[in-house]
Amino acid sequence: MKKSQKNQKKLSHPTARSGRFVEGPSADAARFSESVSFDRRLWRQDIQGSLAHARMLQSIGFLNRKELSGIVRELKQIGREISEDRFPWKMELEDVHMNIEAELTRREPAGAKLHTGRSRNDQVALDMRLWMREEMGSLIHEIRSLQAAFLDCGEFHQEILIPGYTHLQRAQPVYFAHHLLAYVEMLNRDVGRLEDCQHRVNVCPLGNGALAGSTLPLNREMVALELGFVDGRGRVQLTRNSMDGISDRDYLVEFCAAASLISMHLSRLAEDLILWSSAEFNFIRISDSYTTGSSLMPQKKNPDMAELTRGKTGRVYGNLVALLTMMKGLPMTYNRDLQEDKERVFDTMDTVRAVVRLNAGMIRHISVNEGAVSEAVSDANLLATDLADYLVNKGVAFREAHHVVGQIVALSEKKKTPLNALALEEYQALHPAFGAEILKVFDLRRAMSARKGVGAPGTRQVKSELRRWRKELARHTD
Ligand code: ARG
Repeated sequence: MKKSQKNQKKLSHPTARSGRFVEGPSADAARFSESVSFDRRLWRQDIQGSLAHARMLQSIGFLNRKELSGIVRELKQIGREISEDRFPWKMELEDVHMNIEAELTRREPAGAKLHTGRSRNDQVALDMRLWMREEMGSLIHEIRSLQAAFLDCGEFHQEILIPGYTHLQRAQPVYFAHHLLAYVEMLNRDVGRLEDCQHRVNVCPLGNGALAGSTLPLNREMVALELGFVDGRGRVQLTRNSMDGISDRDYLVEFCAAASLISMHLSRLAEDLILWSSAEFNFIRISDSYTTGSSLMPQKKNPDMAELTRGKTGRVYGNLVALLTMMKGLPMTYNRDLQEDKERVFDTMDTVRAVVRLNAGMIRHISVNEGAVSEAVSDANLLATDLADYLVNKGVAFREAHHVVGQIVALSEKKKTPLNALALEEYQALHPAFGAEILKVFDLRRAMSARKGVGAPGTRQVKSELRRWRKELARHTD
């Protein structure tokens, strides 16, 4: 083959290296730098972006109608082949962008015009934003289902009281539903963080070129509109500085931070479930379908799903730190380091979504061991604070009341007699304000109805919070 023919062949098969390069990359370099093995996941977004870009190019006269329809037809065909797993991905074409463009151009010569006024830096920034927008939306949906699972579980066990803990020591009684609703609140802030991140994701970067825009009269608004980059009032959202637009990855860091908090919340839940399902607590039973056995000890039933939930938190945090570290030393603008963001973000999304989904299923498969919890919550010490409040109601200063009740608790420990079984005289010997009605203080139902403040675990409060959340969730899932 003559040299000129060889060059021609190269041109008909575009790669990022055409023209300037005499040699191809070494096999090592190609393997080291390829990203198509993982960024092919962006194929849908890449095609979506190319379709919008091509339509815009036609509207400003850089493609004629026939060229546009050829490009549209072939891009759609390529999309079908990818979705049916029939697309010939090539590692030597580096990434998803080059793979799709090269195949398009092989089939439709006008494909060679598609990259007019556009760079891969542009493409990758666009594809990641489109991908994040969609995936965050579906993650929010999953979180709403998990909130609904907590709500169902809380409603089902409305009457159940458990000890609440501080320092992992029994502290005060709470409704089981109140404990679950705490997670509903956490998850709601998590959704808020994702929604907030969505606003910053939903800005169109296309048109920034490699870093400095284009000399061509691109219609950025048209592309952004077609791709749905608009705010709540329908106003087009465009990145406003080409250098920032091309190299900004803040939104990925924000997402990984929000995901870290979700993981942290669910890791705390995991810890609760592990403790509660242990023989030591014996508060709940996790159904067989969410537990595993031991290969050696036949009696074991292990909370592996909760442990994996807790364990995966480490890698979600790790991904956040990896991104922050990857970004910190980058001079403006695009640097290939940025390619390292993808696996971290994909892994974070997959991990967090799996954890959220798994836990929604698991929460629906726990049952409460009513005997054990009612015994635990009947521990009269849980109402020692109520006893102090009783004295406060009689005009005793809280510090003094706290001291007096402390003495009563010490007496009960010494006599190995529960607080509610000590004689009235023993109470009165420690403080004259105690009267015969102190036994009522130890009536748990009465104690729970006395907790009336906003946010308190009182009987009416918890019921009304369950109702409020039911309405709130119905609003979001409409
Ligand atoms: N695979 C690259 C990435 O993920 C796409 C952009 C490549 N741009 C470049 N100038 N090498 O960042």
